[in-house]
Amino acid sequence: MAAEKRDVHNPLLFECAWEVANKVGGIYTVIKTKAPVTSQEYGDRYTLIGPLSYKTAPMEVEALEPENEALKQTLDSMKAQGVKFLYGRWLIERAPKVLLFDTGSMYHRMDEWKGDLWNLAGIPTPPNDHETNETLIFGYLVAWFLGEFVTRERKKAVIAHFHEWQAGLAIPLCRKRHIDVTTIFTTHATLLGRYLCAGSVDFYNNLQYFDVDHEAGKRGIYHRYCIERSAAHCADVFTTVSHITAYESEHLLKRKPDGVLPNGLNVVKFSAMHEFQNLHAVSKNKINEFIKGHFYGHYDFDLDNTLYFFTAGRYEYRNKGVDMFIEALARLNYRLQKSGSKVTVVAFIIMPAATNSYTIEALKGQAVTKQLRDTVEQIQARIGERLFERTARYQGEGNMDIIDPETLLSEQDKILLKRRIYALKRNSLPPVTTHNMADDSNDPILNQIRRVQLFNRSSDRVKMVFHPEFLNANNPILGLDYEEFVRGCHMGVFPSYYEPWGYTPAECTVMGIPSITTNLSGFGCFMEDTIENSEDYGIYIVDRRQKSVEDSVNQLTDQMFQYCQKSRRQRINQRNRTERLSELLDWKRLGLEYAKARQLALRRAYPDSFSDDDNVESYFDDIHQGSKMQAPLSVPGSPRLNGARTPGEFGTLTEELQGLSTSDYRGHQHFWKTMSQKGSDDE
Ligand code: UDP
Ligand code: G6P
Ligand code: GLC
Repeated sequence: MAAEKRDVHNPLLFECAWEVANKVGGIYTVIKTKAPVTSQEYGDRYTLIGPLSYKTAPMEVEALEPENEALKQTLDSMKAQGVKFLYGRWLIERAPKVLLFDTGSMYHRMDEWKGDLWNLAGIPTPPNDHETNETLIFGYLVAWFLGEFVTRERKKAVIAHFHEWQAGLAIPLCRKRHIDVTTIFTTHATLLGRYLCAGSVDFYNNLQYFDVDHEAGKRGIYHRYCIERSAAHCADVFTTVSHITAYESEHLLKRKPDGVLPNGLNVVKFSAMHEFQNLHAVSKNKINEFIKGHFYGHYDFDLDNTLYFFTAGRYEYRNKGVDMFIEALARLNYRLQKSGSKVTVVAFIIMPAATNSYTIEALKGQAVTKQLRDTVEQIQARIGERLFERTARYQGEGNMDIIDPETLLSEQDKILLKRRIYALKRNSLPPVTTHNMADDSNDPILNQIRRVQLFNRSSDRVKMVFHPEFLNANNPILGLDYEEFVRGCHMGVFPSYYEPWGYTPAECTVMGIPSITTNLSGFGCFMEDTIENSEDYGIYIVDRRQKSVEDSVNQLTDQMFQYCQKSRRQRINQRNRTERLSELLDWKRLGLEYAKARQLALRRAYPDSFSDDDNVESYFDDIHQGSKMQAPLSVPGSPRLNGARTPGEFGTLTEELQGLSTSDYRGHQHFWKTMSQKGSDDE
């Protein structure tokens, strides 16, 4: 069957993820922030595929009729067989096309597809795992779509790029059914890694030795693990987001990734340098207002000398390093007290957990301070009016009693103020949490706060506020969007134990907010490898690889304590330097790795379609013109890079493409040598 040669120079791209137009965690950030550069490269040849959530889709997507004939016919055919979907443009920058499948419309075919998956790939699927059921239906719908689509679109090569196991089931299906597409699988973590780390396992020293099937079985995730592993093995190109996860994937998924695709951000540059500094001041004022309310009756510290630290993310207590954060805060409290410091630190923990709404105390705090402010404003107006009347009518000479402040406050005003002051009295300490927790007594964060006794006493230099819900400008208590909140803080603290990338510190960086991360997070390692003296640029990295837990906690405490010693001027300067790193994280630069992965996929699937004249380098130059670091390295204050000027030189897919070999990726060997030395000879 001599098929027509597909055009590999103008391929179509489908990018498929569970978090397309559907926010859960960091993968949503990857897809959404990357879409503009991918759209720029692919234009109308780019479509994202995700699940249809009737709750969020109307806010995210505007429906359209498909204009491409092959797409239209394919979707018509699926619709005729009962598949429901939404096709349209995603309402984000450059408005890329999205295709969202309603998995619910095909639940009646679940058993048939489960049987098929078992026969085809030997993957079992137990009955009551909702997440796996969704993955299964979604995977079958995507494979169905791609299979029909490529029989109608026969001219252009098709790249199908899948993220994470929930979107990856279509990969083994494409392979087994010989669907004429080339596939890429990018994993943003491994299932086993996440589970093992959340327990009390010495993960990194034992990576080579885990009996993966046994461990997955023990945790009831064997079937999910099988899906993830088969996606990794069946893909033409397998990638992940960091070197650390590449190493983990090699051992837990048993395939070395072909390369690393570091996560970028859509960096918005302000025209004036000080603009982001102004935003910090504006947002900080909003946080100040919250603090005045939350600490009512105990508002005895100077907000001008108060620093806001925070951590945020999905509630993974150990993986996200919250245990270490709280312990280090307790030590910081002690050190600030001992040194007689006047600085107060308010530490926020923003992590969604099951709650039964806000506490009365938290609501009351905001209410009584608002009442006080309203009363003061009314009295202010009355005093102004009195002053005006008296001075306008003044006829006498010499005696100016009428403007004596003593006489300006009426008896009624005084009573009103006394009432407000009375309302601000409280017998209890300001609460450490803003919400009623569904399981208060077993909550790991609360229990750790109790253990170290950070109870917001007046003598405490470190105060705690646990906000167990993601932020939203419409919240009645802390009414800021996440971005606004981050801008208003002084430092993000993310001492993760398991973190394939970790967007939260990266987001701090592009907003010019210093952060603490670890050398067990993809982002931390990327920064450590990319710039010298990262602390000067506000990137503090806790060593959680070579140090004991005790030493890591002390290092984290030191970093926070040192930050507390900085003057305002030093903080402002450091923020300027931090913000300068954002270019390193811009998709305009990092998107290049995705382009390389796609090239590799095309070359692996269609080797005969490339001639020796196809120049890979000039192709990349064309698509990413101007993506390199703009500022000359000699400019004072610019970050000193550790050699690498482009992400490609950072050691990922370049070598492979130049040599056009298909050897496995080796870029991370230098990177993990310390680890392997510890764990004896690996190879
Ligand atoms: N985030 C958010 N609201 C919050 C806290 C976090 O939207 O109140 C977002 C944050 O901006 C980031 C994502 O959640 O993009 C978390 O991604 P990360 O890669 O740090 O962790 P993941 O959840 O994927 O493990
Ligand atoms: C920004 C503003 C300054 C403000 C400063 C506060 O730089 O432009 O006007 O004084 O933030 O910084 P701090 O670190 O004390 O919050
Ligand atoms: C995963 C990881 C996180 C990463 C994100 C995006 O959810 O937990 O570390 O930043 O994916 O790649």
